Amino acid sequence: MAQKELVPGLAGVPAAESAISYIDGAAGILQYRGYRIEELAVESTFEETAWLLMEGELPTAAQLESFRKELGQHRELPSPLVSMLHDMPKDAHPMAVLQAAVAALGACEPRVPFGDEAAFRGAWLRLLSAVPSIVATHERFRRGQDPISPDPTLSTAGNFLLQLTGDRPSKIAERILDCALVLHADHTMNASTFAARVVYGTQADPYASICGGVGALSGPLHGGANERVLASLQSIGSVEAVDAWAQDQFANKGKIMGFGHRVYSVKDPRSHALQSLAVKLFDELGSTPIYDVALKLEQVVVDRLGDKGIHPNVDFFSGIVYSKLGIPTDQFTPIFAIARTAGWMAHLHEQMQDNKLYRPGQVYVGVAERPYVPIGERG
Ligand code: SDX
Repeated sequence: MAQKELVPGLAGVPAAESAISYIDGAAGILQYRGYRIEELAVESTFEETAWLLMEGELPTAAQLESFRKELGQHRELPSPLVSMLHDMPKDAHPMAVLQAAVAALGACEPRVPFGDEAAFRGAWLRLLSAVPSIVATHERFRRGQDPISPDPTLSTAGNFLLQLTGDRPSKIAERILDCALVLHADHTMNASTFAARVVYGTQADPYASICGGVGALSGPLHGGANERVLASLQSIGSVEAVDAWAQDQFANKGKIMGFGHRVYSVKDPRSHALQSLAVKLFDELGSTPIYDVALKLEQVVVDRLGDKGIHPNVDFFSGIVYSKLGIPTDQFTPIFAIARTAGWMAHLHEQMQDNKLYRPGQVYVGVAERPYVPIGERG
Protein backbone atom coordinates (compact mmCIF):
# COMPACT_ATOMS: atom_id res chain seq x y z
CA MET A 1 0.00 0.00 0.00
CA ALA A 2 1.40 3.45 -0.98
CA GLN A 3 2.84 5.43 1.98
CA LYS A 4 0.24 8.10 2.92
CA GLU A 5 1.29 11.60 4.09
CA LEU A 6 1.41 12.07 7.90
CA VAL A 7 -1.49 14.15 9.32
CA PRO A 8 -0.60 15.19 12.91
CA GLY A 9 -3.52 14.54 15.24
CA LEU A 10 -5.47 13.27 12.21
CA ALA A 11 -6.62 16.92 11.85
CA GLY A 12 -9.54 16.96 9.42
CA VAL A 13 -9.09 13.31 8.41
CA PRO A 14 -12.54 11.66 8.21
CA ALA A 15 -12.43 8.52 10.39
CA ALA A 16 -15.99 7.38 9.72
CA GLU A 17 -19.28 8.36 8.11
CA SER A 18 -21.70 9.65 10.74
CA ALA A 19 -25.23 11.06 10.72
CA ILE A 20 -25.39 12.04 14.38
CA SER A 21 -24.09 15.61 14.58
CA TYR A 22 -22.69 18.20 12.23
CA ILE A 23 -20.39 21.20 12.75
CA ASP A 24 -19.69 24.15 10.45
CA GLY A 25 -16.58 25.49 12.19
CA ALA A 26 -16.37 28.72 10.22
CA ALA A 27 -20.02 29.63 10.71
CA GLY A 28 -20.19 28.40 14.31
CA ILE A 29 -22.98 25.93 13.60
CA LEU A 30 -23.68 22.71 15.55
CA GLN A 31 -26.62 20.44 14.73
CA TYR A 32 -27.76 17.19 16.36
CA ARG A 33 -29.57 15.10 13.70
CA GLY A 34 -30.24 18.32 11.77
CA TYR A 35 -31.60 20.33 14.71
CA ARG A 36 -29.62 23.47 15.66
CA ILE A 37 -28.07 23.32 19.12
CA GLU A 38 -29.51 26.74 19.96
CA GLU A 39 -33.08 25.38 19.50
CA LEU A 40 -32.41 22.12 21.34
CA ALA A 41 -30.85 24.04 24.24
CA VAL A 42 -34.06 26.02 24.69
CA GLU A 43 -36.76 23.56 23.60
CA SER A 44 -35.41 20.08 24.38
CA THR A 45 -34.37 18.09 27.46
CA PHE A 46 -31.41 15.79 28.01
CA GLU A 47 -33.61 12.69 27.82
CA GLU A 48 -35.22 13.85 24.56
CA THR A 49 -31.78 14.72 23.15
CA ALA A 50 -30.30 11.34 24.16
CA TRP A 51 -33.17 9.65 22.32
CA LEU A 52 -32.70 11.91 19.27
CA LEU A 53 -28.97 11.18 19.08
CA MET A 54 -29.55 7.41 19.24
CA GLU A 55 -32.76 7.01 17.23
CA GLY A 56 -32.30 9.85 14.74
CA GLU A 57 -35.73 11.37 15.37
CA LEU A 58 -37.34 13.35 18.20
CA PRO A 59 -39.43 10.98 20.37
CA THR A 60 -43.22 11.09 20.51
CA ALA A 61 -44.72 11.98 23.89
CA ALA A 62 -45.39 8.27 24.55
CA GLN A 63 -41.86 7.25 23.56
CA LEU A 64 -40.33 9.94 25.76
CA GLU A 65 -42.51 9.01 28.73
CA SER A 66 -41.56 5.33 28.58
CA PHE A 67 -37.88 6.19 27.98
CA ARG A 68 -37.81 8.44 31.05
CA LYS A 69 -39.44 5.67 33.13
CA GLU A 70 -36.84 3.14 31.94
CA LEU A 71 -33.99 5.52 32.73
CA GLY A 72 -35.37 6.05 36.22
CA GLN A 73 -35.34 2.29 36.83
CA HIS A 74 -31.65 1.87 35.94
CA ARG A 75 -30.08 4.27 38.46
CA GLU A 76 -29.34 1.93 41.39
CA LEU A 77 -25.68 0.85 41.50
CA PRO A 78 -24.57 -2.77 42.14
CA SER A 79 -23.23 -3.21 45.70
CA PRO A 80 -19.66 -4.19 44.63
CA LEU A 81 -19.47 -0.87 42.80
CA VAL A 82 -20.85 1.08 45.77
CA SER A 83 -18.19 -0.55 48.00
CA MET A 84 -15.49 0.36 45.48
CA LEU A 85 -16.65 4.00 45.40
CA HIS A 86 -16.67 4.04 49.20
CA ASP A 87 -13.13 2.67 49.43
CA MET A 88 -11.60 4.98 46.83
CA PRO A 89 -8.83 7.30 48.18
CA LYS A 90 -10.43 10.59 49.23
CA ASP A 91 -7.99 12.57 47.05
CA ALA A 92 -8.59 10.51 43.90
CA HIS A 93 -9.66 12.69 40.95
CA PRO A 94 -13.35 12.07 40.14
CA MET A 95 -12.52 11.36 36.47
CA ALA A 96 -10.11 8.58 37.50
CA VAL A 97 -12.82 7.21 39.78
CA LEU A 98 -15.44 7.45 37.03
CA GLN A 99 -13.23 5.58 34.55
CA ALA A 100 -12.64 2.80 37.09
CA ALA A 101 -16.31 2.75 38.06
CA VAL A 102 -17.55 2.37 34.47
CA ALA A 103 -15.23 -0.62 34.06
CA ALA A 104 -16.49 -2.05 37.34
CA LEU A 105 -20.10 -1.47 36.26
CA GLY A 106 -19.37 -3.43 33.09
CA ALA A 107 -17.91 -6.22 35.21
CA CYS A 108 -21.15 -6.37 37.20
CA GLU A 109 -23.47 -6.24 34.20
CA PRO A 110 -24.37 -9.02 31.74
CA ARG A 111 -21.96 -9.28 28.80
CA VAL A 112 -22.97 -7.30 25.70
CA PRO A 113 -22.12 -9.41 22.63
CA PHE A 114 -21.13 -7.19 19.69
CA GLY A 115 -24.07 -6.71 17.36
CA ASP A 116 -26.70 -7.78 19.92
CA GLU A 117 -29.17 -4.90 19.59
CA ALA A 118 -31.21 -5.72 22.71
CA ALA A 119 -28.12 -6.11 24.92
CA PHE A 120 -26.70 -2.88 23.48
CA ARG A 121 -29.86 -0.96 24.37
CA GLY A 122 -29.69 -2.38 27.87
CA ALA A 123 -26.17 -1.01 28.21
CA TRP A 124 -27.32 2.33 26.77
CA LEU A 125 -30.05 2.70 29.42
CA ARG A 126 -27.71 1.48 32.15
CA LEU A 127 -24.88 3.85 31.33
CA LEU A 128 -27.11 6.91 30.82
CA SER A 129 -28.66 6.26 34.25
CA ALA A 130 -25.76 4.85 36.27
CA VAL A 131 -23.02 7.34 35.29
CA PRO A 132 -24.74 10.25 37.09
CA SER A 133 -25.33 8.00 40.14
CA ILE A 134 -21.64 7.01 40.14
CA VAL A 135 -20.49 10.65 40.08
CA ALA A 136 -22.91 11.72 42.82
CA THR A 137 -22.30 8.67 45.04
CA HIS A 138 -18.54 9.11 44.90
CA GLU A 139 -18.91 12.80 45.78
CA ARG A 140 -20.99 11.90 48.85
CA PHE A 141 -18.49 9.29 50.02
CA ARG A 142 -15.45 11.57 49.61
CA ARG A 143 -17.26 14.20 51.71
CA GLY A 144 -17.84 11.54 54.39
CA GLN A 145 -21.58 11.50 53.71
CA ASP A 146 -23.96 8.62 53.03
CA PRO A 147 -25.06 8.15 49.43
CA ILE A 148 -28.55 9.34 48.49
CA SER A 149 -30.92 6.84 46.85
CA PRO A 150 -31.98 7.83 43.35
CA ASP A 151 -35.51 9.09 42.70
CA PRO A 152 -36.85 7.33 39.58
CA THR A 153 -39.42 10.06 39.03
CA LEU A 154 -36.91 12.88 38.58
CA SER A 155 -35.15 13.89 35.36
CA THR A 156 -31.49 12.95 34.87
CA ALA A 157 -30.44 16.47 35.87
CA GLY A 158 -32.85 16.66 38.79
CA ASN A 159 -31.92 13.25 40.16
CA PHE A 160 -28.21 13.98 39.81
CA LEU A 161 -28.55 17.16 41.87
CA LEU A 162 -30.65 15.30 44.46
CA GLN A 163 -28.07 12.50 44.77
CA LEU A 164 -25.23 15.03 44.88
CA THR A 165 -26.64 17.42 47.47
CA GLY A 166 -29.33 15.44 49.30
CA ASP A 167 -31.87 18.15 48.45
CA ARG A 168 -34.44 18.26 45.65
CA PRO A 169 -33.13 20.93 43.27
CA SER A 170 -34.91 24.17 42.48
CA LYS A 171 -36.66 24.25 39.12
CA ILE A 172 -34.12 26.78 37.80
CA ALA A 173 -31.11 24.69 38.90
CA GLU A 174 -32.61 21.54 37.34
CA ARG A 175 -33.41 23.38 34.10
CA ILE A 176 -29.97 25.00 33.85
CA LEU A 177 -28.13 21.70 34.40
CA ASP A 178 -30.49 19.91 31.99
CA CYS A 179 -29.66 22.51 29.35
CA ALA A 180 -25.92 22.14 29.98
CA LEU A 181 -26.27 18.36 29.48
CA VAL A 182 -28.01 18.97 26.14
CA LEU A 183 -25.19 21.29 25.08
CA HIS A 184 -22.47 18.75 25.95
CA ALA A 185 -24.18 15.61 24.61
CA ASP A 186 -22.38 15.20 21.26
CA HIS A 187 -19.84 16.89 19.02
CA THR A 188 -18.97 14.81 15.92
CA MET A 189 -15.57 13.04 15.95
CA ASN A 190 -13.95 14.66 18.99
CA ALA A 191 -11.07 12.91 20.76
CA SER A 192 -13.15 11.03 23.32
CA THR A 193 -15.77 9.91 20.81
CA PHE A 194 -12.99 8.72 18.51
CA ALA A 195 -11.35 6.90 21.44
CA ALA A 196 -14.61 5.16 22.31
CA ARG A 197 -15.18 4.17 18.68
CA VAL A 198 -11.62 2.81 18.39
CA VAL A 199 -12.15 0.54 21.40
CA TYR A 200 -15.61 -0.54 20.22
CA GLY A 201 -14.21 -1.17 16.73
CA THR A 202 -12.30 -4.14 18.19
CA GLN A 203 -15.73 -5.54 19.23
CA ALA A 204 -14.98 -4.84 22.88
CA ASP A 205 -18.10 -4.22 24.96
CA PRO A 206 -19.73 -0.79 25.36
CA TYR A 207 -18.55 -0.39 28.99
CA ALA A 208 -14.89 -0.85 28.00
CA SER A 209 -15.45 1.58 25.11
CA ILE A 210 -17.00 4.24 27.33
CA CYS A 211 -14.02 3.80 29.67
CA GLY A 212 -11.85 4.80 26.73
CA GLY A 213 -14.00 7.86 26.15
CA VAL A 214 -13.82 8.88 29.82
CA GLY A 215 -10.05 8.56 29.78
CA ALA A 216 -9.70 10.76 26.69
CA LEU A 217 -12.18 13.33 28.02
CA SER A 218 -10.19 13.76 31.24
CA GLY A 219 -7.28 15.46 29.48
CA PRO A 220 -6.85 19.27 29.80
CA LEU A 221 -6.86 19.71 26.02
CA HIS A 222 -10.33 18.15 25.91
CA GLY A 223 -12.97 17.92 28.63
CA GLY A 224 -10.53 18.57 31.43
CA ALA A 225 -10.24 22.21 30.33
CA ASN A 226 -13.44 23.30 32.10
CA GLU A 227 -12.04 22.88 35.61
CA ARG A 228 -8.80 24.57 34.58
CA VAL A 229 -10.67 27.58 33.19
CA LEU A 230 -12.13 28.28 36.62
CA ALA A 231 -8.71 27.85 38.22
CA SER A 232 -7.28 30.40 35.74
CA LEU A 233 -10.08 32.89 36.40
CA GLN A 234 -9.66 32.46 40.16
CA SER A 235 -5.89 32.88 39.94
CA ILE A 236 -6.31 36.06 37.85
CA GLY A 237 -8.60 37.29 40.63
CA SER A 238 -9.72 40.65 39.24
CA VAL A 239 -10.57 42.45 36.01
CA GLU A 240 -7.55 44.72 36.54
CA ALA A 241 -5.20 41.72 36.62
CA VAL A 242 -6.42 40.15 33.37
CA ASP A 243 -4.18 42.05 30.97
CA ALA A 244 -0.89 41.24 32.74
CA TRP A 245 -1.90 37.58 33.12
CA ALA A 246 -2.84 37.28 29.45
CA GLN A 247 0.32 39.05 28.25
CA ASP A 248 2.35 36.53 30.25
CA GLN A 249 0.49 33.67 28.56
CA PHE A 250 1.04 35.21 25.14
CA ALA A 251 4.74 35.75 25.84
CA ASN A 252 5.18 32.11 26.88
CA LYS A 253 2.96 30.86 24.05
CA GLY A 254 0.86 29.11 26.71
CA LYS A 255 -2.43 27.44 25.77
CA ILE A 256 -5.18 29.46 27.44
CA MET A 257 -7.76 27.02 28.77
CA GLY A 258 -11.27 27.48 27.38
CA PHE A 259 -10.07 28.98 24.11
CA GLY A 260 -9.39 27.52 20.70
CA HIS A 261 -10.80 24.54 18.89
CA ARG A 262 -9.74 22.06 16.22
CA VAL A 263 -12.89 22.77 14.20
CA TYR A 264 -14.38 26.13 15.25
CA SER A 265 -12.58 29.27 14.07
CA VAL A 266 -15.25 31.42 15.72
CA LYS A 267 -16.88 31.41 19.19
CA ASP A 268 -18.34 27.96 19.89
CA PRO A 269 -22.15 28.20 19.70
CA ARG A 270 -22.31 26.26 22.97
CA SER A 271 -20.18 28.92 24.61
CA HIS A 272 -22.77 31.52 23.65
CA ALA A 273 -25.54 29.29 25.10
CA LEU A 274 -23.65 28.59 28.35
CA GLN A 275 -22.94 32.29 28.74
CA SER A 276 -26.70 32.94 28.55
CA LEU A 277 -27.29 30.25 31.17
CA ALA A 278 -24.77 31.94 33.44
CA VAL A 279 -26.56 35.28 33.07
CA LYS A 280 -29.92 33.58 33.78
CA LEU A 281 -28.43 32.15 36.99
CA PHE A 282 -27.09 35.55 38.02
CA ASP A 283 -30.58 37.05 37.58
CA GLU A 284 -31.87 34.37 39.94
CA LEU A 285 -29.01 33.97 42.43
CA GLY A 286 -26.98 37.16 42.08
CA SER A 287 -23.89 37.71 39.94
CA THR A 288 -20.34 36.59 40.58
CA PRO A 289 -17.21 38.76 40.12
CA ILE A 290 -15.45 35.95 38.26
CA TYR A 291 -17.86 36.47 35.35
CA ASP A 292 -16.49 39.98 34.83
CA VAL A 293 -12.98 38.53 34.85
CA ALA A 294 -14.11 36.03 32.20
CA LEU A 295 -15.60 38.76 29.99
CA LYS A 296 -12.41 40.80 30.20
CA LEU A 297 -10.26 37.74 29.46
CA GLU A 298 -12.40 36.90 26.43
CA GLN A 299 -11.97 40.44 25.10
CA VAL A 300 -8.17 40.47 25.63
CA VAL A 301 -7.58 36.99 24.15
CA VAL A 302 -9.85 37.52 21.14
CA ASP A 303 -8.27 40.93 20.47
CA ARG A 304 -4.89 39.22 20.31
CA LEU A 305 -5.69 35.78 18.86
CA GLY A 306 -9.13 36.13 17.30
CA ASP A 307 -7.63 36.55 13.82
CA LYS A 308 -5.95 33.13 14.33
CA GLY A 309 -9.37 31.62 15.01
CA ILE A 310 -8.86 31.42 18.76
CA HIS A 311 -12.20 32.10 20.46
CA PRO A 312 -14.02 30.78 23.57
CA ASN A 313 -14.98 27.11 23.34
CA VAL A 314 -17.57 25.08 25.25
CA ASP A 315 -15.36 24.94 28.35
CA PHE A 316 -14.99 28.68 28.86
CA PHE A 317 -18.29 29.49 30.59
CA SER A 318 -19.43 26.03 31.71
CA GLY A 319 -17.43 26.13 34.94
CA ILE A 320 -18.99 29.44 35.95
CA VAL A 321 -22.44 27.86 35.53
CA TYR A 322 -21.55 24.72 37.48
CA SER A 323 -19.80 26.70 40.20
CA LYS A 324 -22.91 28.87 40.62
CA LEU A 325 -24.90 25.65 41.05
CA GLY A 326 -22.58 24.75 43.93
CA ILE A 327 -20.83 21.93 42.07
CA PRO A 328 -17.18 21.30 43.08
CA THR A 329 -14.64 22.28 40.40
CA ASP A 330 -13.22 18.78 39.92
CA GLN A 331 -16.74 17.51 39.18
CA PHE A 332 -17.10 19.73 36.09
CA THR A 333 -15.51 17.19 33.72
CA PRO A 334 -17.51 14.25 35.16
CA ILE A 335 -20.65 16.27 34.34
CA PHE A 336 -19.31 16.63 30.81
CA ALA A 337 -18.96 12.81 30.79
CA ILE A 338 -22.54 12.36 32.06
CA ALA A 339 -23.76 14.30 29.03
CA ARG A 340 -21.34 12.88 26.48
CA THR A 341 -22.32 9.31 27.36
CA ALA A 342 -25.39 9.99 25.20
CA GLY A 343 -23.22 10.91 22.21
CA TRP A 344 -20.66 8.19 22.80
CA MET A 345 -23.35 5.49 22.86
CA ALA A 346 -25.00 6.87 19.72
CA HIS A 347 -21.64 6.69 17.96
CA LEU A 348 -21.02 3.12 19.18
CA HIS A 349 -24.44 2.13 17.86
CA GLU A 350 -23.48 3.65 14.50
CA GLN A 351 -20.13 1.82 14.61
CA MET A 352 -21.97 -1.46 15.25
CA GLN A 353 -23.97 -1.15 12.00
CA ASP A 354 -20.92 -1.23 9.72
CA ASN A 355 -17.91 -1.95 11.86
CA LYS A 356 -14.31 -1.71 10.61
CA LEU A 357 -11.39 -2.16 13.01
CA TYR A 358 -9.45 1.12 13.40
CA ARG A 359 -5.83 0.39 12.57
CA PRO A 360 -4.13 3.51 11.11
CA GLY A 361 -0.62 3.47 9.68
CA GLN A 362 2.48 5.44 10.66
CA VAL A 363 5.49 7.13 9.08
CA TYR A 364 8.48 5.11 10.34
CA VAL A 365 11.33 7.43 11.42
CA GLY A 366 13.34 4.89 13.44
CA VAL A 367 16.74 3.27 12.71
CA ALA A 368 17.33 0.92 9.77
CA GLU A 369 17.59 -2.86 10.36
CA ARG A 370 20.66 -3.90 12.40
CA PRO A 371 22.10 -7.17 13.91
CA TYR A 372 21.62 -8.04 17.63
CA VAL A 373 24.57 -7.07 19.94
CA PRO A 374 25.33 -9.53 22.80
CA ILE A 375 25.39 -7.76 26.19
CA GLY A 376 29.12 -8.38 26.67
CA GLU A 377 29.88 -6.42 23.50
CA ARG A 378 27.81 -3.34 24.38
CA GLY A 379 29.38 0.03 25.24
C1 SDX B 1 -13.29 20.40 23.92
O1 SDX B 1 -12.96 18.35 19.46
C2 SDX B 1 -14.00 18.70 20.09
O2 SDX B 1 -15.07 18.81 19.50
C3 SDX B 1 -13.82 18.93 21.56
C4 SDX B 1 -15.01 19.53 22.31
C5 SDX B 1 -16.18 18.56 22.36
O3 SDX B 1 -17.32 19.01 22.56
O4 SDX B 1 -15.92 17.33 22.33
O5 SDX B 1 -15.43 20.72 21.66
C6 SDX B 1 -14.66 19.85 23.75
O6 SDX B 1 -12.37 19.65 24.13
C7 SDX B 1 -13.04 21.87 23.74
C8 SDX B 1 -11.53 22.25 23.84
C9 SDX B 1 -11.12 22.36 25.31
N1 SDX B 1 -9.65 22.55 25.39
C10 SDX B 1 -9.12 23.73 25.79
O7 SDX B 1 -9.76 24.74 26.05
C11 SDX B 1 -7.59 23.69 25.91
C12 SDX B 1 -6.99 24.92 25.22
N2 SDX B 1 -7.16 24.78 23.76
C13 SDX B 1 -6.05 24.33 23.00
O8 SDX B 1 -5.25 23.36 23.62
C14 SDX B 1 -6.42 24.03 21.54
O9 SDX B 1 -7.14 25.10 21.09
C15 SDX B 1 -7.14 22.74 21.19
C16 SDX B 1 -6.47 21.54 21.74
C17 SDX B 1 -8.55 22.79 21.68
C18 SDX B 1 -7.16 22.62 19.66
O10 SDX B 1 -5.83 22.65 19.29
P1 SDX B 1 -5.30 22.19 17.84
O11 SDX B 1 -6.43 22.18 16.88
O12 SDX B 1 -4.51 20.95 18.01
O13 SDX B 1 -4.37 23.40 17.42
P2 SDX B 1 -2.91 23.68 17.94
O14 SDX B 1 -2.75 23.31 19.39
O15 SDX B 1 -1.98 23.07 16.96
O16 SDX B 1 -2.83 25.29 17.87
C19 SDX B 1 -2.80 25.96 16.60
C20 SDX B 1 -2.26 27.35 16.89
C21 SDX B 1 -0.95 27.30 17.69
O17 SDX B 1 -0.21 28.49 17.40
P3 SDX B 1 1.04 28.40 16.36
O18 SDX B 1 2.00 27.36 16.95
O19 SDX B 1 0.43 27.97 15.05
O20 SDX B 1 1.59 29.79 16.38
O21 SDX B 1 -3.21 28.06 17.71
C22 SDX B 1 -2.60 28.33 18.98
C23 SDX B 1 -1.42 27.38 19.11
O22 SDX B 1 -0.44 27.91 19.99
N3 SDX B 1 -3.60 28.01 20.00
C24 SDX B 1 -3.68 28.64 21.17
C25 SDX B 1 -4.75 28.03 21.85
N4 SDX B 1 -5.28 27.08 21.08
C26 SDX B 1 -4.55 27.07 19.94
N5 SDX B 1 -2.94 29.64 21.72
C27 SDX B 1 -3.30 30.05 22.96
N6 SDX B 1 -4.34 29.50 23.69
C28 SDX B 1 -5.08 28.51 23.14
N7 SDX B 1 -6.11 27.99 23.85
